[in-house]
Amino acid sequence: MNNFSFYDLQPKISNFRDEVLAGLSKQRKSIPPKFFYDDYGSKIFDQICELEEYYPTRTEFSILQQHCSDIADQIGENSLIIEYGSGSSQKICLLLDSLKKPLAYMPIDISREHMLSASKTIADKYPDLEVLAVCADYTTEMLLPDYDYSSLNKKVIFFPGTTIGNLEPEQAVKLLKRSAAIVGSGGGMLIGFDMKKDPQILHAAYNDSKGVTAAFNMNLLTRINRELEANFDTSTFSHYSFFNLSKSRIEMHLVSLVEQTVTISDRPFRFSEGESIHTENSYKFSLQEIKDLSERTGFKLSKFWTDPENHFYLCYLLAD
Ligand code: AVJ
Repeated sequence: MNNFSFYDLQPKISNFRDEVLAGLSKQRKSIPPKFFYDDYGSKIFDQICELEEYYPTRTEFSILQQHCSDIADQIGENSLIIEYGSGSSQKICLLLDSLKKPLAYMPIDISREHMLSASKTIADKYPDLEVLAVCADYTTEMLLPDYDYSSLNKKVIFFPGTTIGNLEPEQAVKLLKRSAAIVGSGGGMLIGFDMKKDPQILHAAYNDSKGVTAAFNMNLLTRINRELEANFDTSTFSHYSFFNLSKSRIEMHLVSLVEQTVTISDRPFRFSEGESIHTENSYKFSLQEIKDLSERTGFKLSKFWTDPENHFYLCYLLAD
C-alpha cells in the first residue's frame, strides 16, 4: 500500500494514569470519557451503535445517505478530509463515495489498533486516495502532519456522531476554534449534533435493555484494573445514566454500591455508599445553540440536514 502512512502522536500511558488519579482525587470524582475507547471499549461502542434504542448513529447515517450529493457539493473537489474520532471509519465511506475527487483522508483517533485496521481498509478500498492515519487525542493541541499539496483545494474536518456533545461548552468552543485554525479561511467542518428531544427517548438510548451501554461504562474500571494496577470490584459498581434537564445533557456515572476503598497504582481511594464516578456527559443541542457556537468560533452555519423527526442535525460550518 503506497497510499497509506501512519503518524503516532499517541498520548503516553502516563496521561491515562495522571488523568485517572487526578479525576478520582476531586471532591466529585470523574474520569474523562475519551478513556472508554481502549480496544475492547471501541468494540462495545460499535455494538451500542447497532442498538434499537440508540438512534443517533442510524439517524446520522441515513441523513448522510440521503443528502450525500448535496454535502459533496459543499465540500467540492480536491479536498483533504480530516476525521476526528474516526473509529471504525464507516460513515466516511458514504462521503468518500460521493465526493468527486477527494485528495486525501486523515483519520485521527485515540484508539490505535482499531483506527489502524479501519484506515488500512480505507486505503485498500480507495487506491487513489492518500490516507494519512494519525493516532492522537484531538481534544488537545496537536501538530498534524503537513499536508499542503499544491492541488489541495480545501480542508474539511468531519466530526460525526455528536461527539462534540462530550465536551463542556467551553471545551467545545476551544475545539472549534482550533478546528477553524486547522482548516483556514474557506475551509469547513461537517459536524453532527444530537438535538434536544423527549427525555424518554434520550433516557432509553443510554439505558438499553441489553445492558450494552452498562458494559461500555463498566469497561472503564476493567481497563483501569488492567493498565493501572488497580483492584476495582466491578460487581460493587452500577451503571447509572439519566438526562439532566437543566444542563441539557445525558450524564453517565458508575455508582459505588457499598462503602469501600479501591487501590490504584498504590494509592487508596475511598468511596462512600452511593458515591459516583462521573464518566460522561452528552450534551443535546438546539439549532440556536449550534448557530451561537459556530459564530463564537470563527465559523458560520452554512447549511444543515436533518431527519423527519429533527432528532439529529448534520451541519456544514464554513470558516470565515
Ligand atoms: C460517542 C460521545 C457521541 O454521547 O452518545 C454512547 C458515546 N455513551 N452511549 C454519545 C456514548 C454512551 C456517544 N458519543
